[in-house]
Amino acid sequence: MDFRSFLCCTRGSDGKGKGKKESTWRIFSLKELHAATNNFNYDNKLGEGGFGSVYWGQLWDGSQIAVKRLKVWSNKADMEFAVEVEILARVRHKNLLSLRGYCAEGQERLIVYDYMPNLSLLSHLHGQQSSESLLDWPRRMAIAIGAAEGIVYLQHHATPHIIHGDIKASNVLLDSDFKAQVADFGFAKLIPDGATHVTTRVKGTLGYLAPEYVVSGKASESCDIYSFGILLLELASGRKPLEKVNSTTRSITEWALPLVYERKFSEIADPKMNGKYVEEELKRVVFVGLICAHNQPDKRPAILEVVELLKGELKEKFAAIENDEMFMAGQDNNEGSVADDSSGSVSEGKEQIQESEKAT
Ligand SMILES: Nc1ncnc2c1ncn2[C@@H]1O[C@H](COP(=O)(O)OP(=O)(O)O)[C@@H](O)[C@H]1O
Ligand SMILES: [Mg+2]
Repeated sequence: MDFRSFLCCTRGSDGKGKGKKESTWRIFSLKELHAATNNFNYDNKLGEGGFGSVYWGQLWDGSQIAVKRLKVWSNKADMEFAVEVEILARVRHKNLLSLRGYCAEGQERLIVYDYMPNLSLLSHLHGQQSSESLLDWPRRMAIAIGAAEGIVYLQHHATPHIIHGDIKASNVLLDSDFKAQVADFGFAKLIPDGATHVTTRVKGTLGYLAPEYVVSGKASESCDIYSFGILLLELASGRKPLEKVNSTTRSITEWALPLVYERKFSEIADPKMNGKYVEEELKRVVFVGLICAHNQPDKRPAILEVVELLKGELKEKFAAIENDEMFMAGQDNNEGSVADDSSGSVSEGKEQIQESEKAT
C-alpha cells in the first residue's frame, strides 16, 4: 500500500471539534529512528503490546518521541499498522495521542508519536508506578473527563466517525501534566456515514468488551462506551477489570454492584488515595461507570451525556441514574452485564483477543 498517497489527502483534515491541535506529521527514515532510539536498545523500551514494542527516542532537534515497532511482519499486522496510521492522521484533539509520523521500509513498520512522560494509566493503577501513588483524585477526575472528551471527538467530530475498539487503561497515556491522551488505534474502525455499526471479527481485551459485541461481532460506538465504563470503575477503585477469586473470574462490575447497593463508596475508593477524594465526584464516576457498562446497549448514556454527568451537570439525569432499580439490592437487572462472555476463557497474559471467530 502506498501510505503516502492517502496521508497526503488527509493532512490537516481536522474535523470541526474543539481542542484541535496542529497537524504536523512526516515520514521518518529507518536510519533516523535507529539513531533516535540507540538502535532500539532494550534500555529504551517503554512498553509492549500486541503489535510490538514501544521505544523512547530523541530526535536531532532534542524532541522526545515514542516509536512503536512491529514485531513480526504479516498481512494482518500490516493492516493494523495501516489502520492506526490512517486514523491517527485524521484525528487531532487535546485528548488523543497525535501522530508524529511513520516509517514503512521493507518489512519494517514503525509509528512515531510524541513521548508521554507519565506513560500509561495502567502503569499508575496497577504497574511500575502504582507504588508512587501519583494519581490523586483531581488527576483521576481530569483523566476521566479528558478521555471522555477524546471519545466525544471520535464519535461526533471526526468524519467519518471512529470506533476506537480497545479503550482500556494501557491505551490511555498521560502527558507531563497527567492529561489523558487516548492512544493505540490499531483496532479502530471507521463507521461509514449513516451506518450504526461495523461487523468484524471479535478483537479487543477481555474485561472491556461489550457483551453484545462478543456475541454478534457488531462493533458500535456503544461498545466504546461500555469499555469506558469499565475504565471509570478502574480509575475510581484501582481494581482490575477482571480478578481471580477462588478459581473463578470476577468482573469489576460484579465486585462494585453489591457495594453500590449499600452505598459503601468508601469501600469502592482506591485505598491508594488514603481517603483523600471528593465523595460526590467519586459517586458520579462509579454510577456513570456502571451505567456505561450496562449489558443492554440502549441503557448506556451517550458519550456527550457522560462528559456532562462527570462534570456534575445534568443533575436530574444523575438523580434518575442513582435511583435506577439496577442500583437497588435484590435487583438482577444487569445480570450477565459483565464477564459472562469471557469467564472460563481468561488467563494471565492472554487477555487481548487479536482475532477470534465470532461467537454464535
Ligand atoms: N507515546 C508514548 N509515550 C510513552 N509510552 C508509550 C507511548 N506509546 C505507547 N507507550 C507504551 O507502550 C505501550 C504499548 O503501546 P500501544 O500503542 O498500546 O501498543 P499496542 O498496539 O502494541 O498495544 C503502552 O501501553 C505504553 O505503556
Ligand atoms: Mg495497546
